[in-house]
Amino acid sequence: MRPTPPSLLTTLSIVLALVSRVFAFEPTPDQRRLFIEGAKLWPVYCAQCHNARPGSQFSPSQWDAITMHMRTQSIMPAKNMRAIKEFLQQAR
Ligand code: HEC
Repeated sequence: MRPTPPSLLTTLSIVLALVSRVFAFEPTPDQRRLFIEGAKLWPVYCAQCHNARPGSQFSPSQWDAITMHMRTQSIMPAKNMRAIKEFLQQAR
């Protein structure tokens, strides 16, 4: 006996659940703008004194502390550091 195909309702609810999951993690337009800016600034700023560490090397909360510390090491505008932090936390 062949297994019965899933009903339309089951299929639809699975698709809906998947779609809503994807949208829940969707970054806001502001986060997207910061990410792109950070991706450009990170190799410029963060490779001046040492090799630029990739976002995957530390957790998002560790990046909170690190970027604050690195901002005091260098003369970096706060808005640029916000962009770099967004990039490092998202690029995992
Ligand atoms: C003005 C020089 C300078 C700049 C620019 C700089 N750093 Fe640093 N960074 C340091 C120094 C010095 C240390 C080691 C001593 C310390 O922790 O204070 C360090 C250490 C680090 C560490 C820890 C290293 C490890 O692997 O244990 C991380 C991560 C880091 N920096 C990230 C960054 C990021 C991200 C940026 C760009 C936003 C940046 N740094 C820009 C000077 C700098």
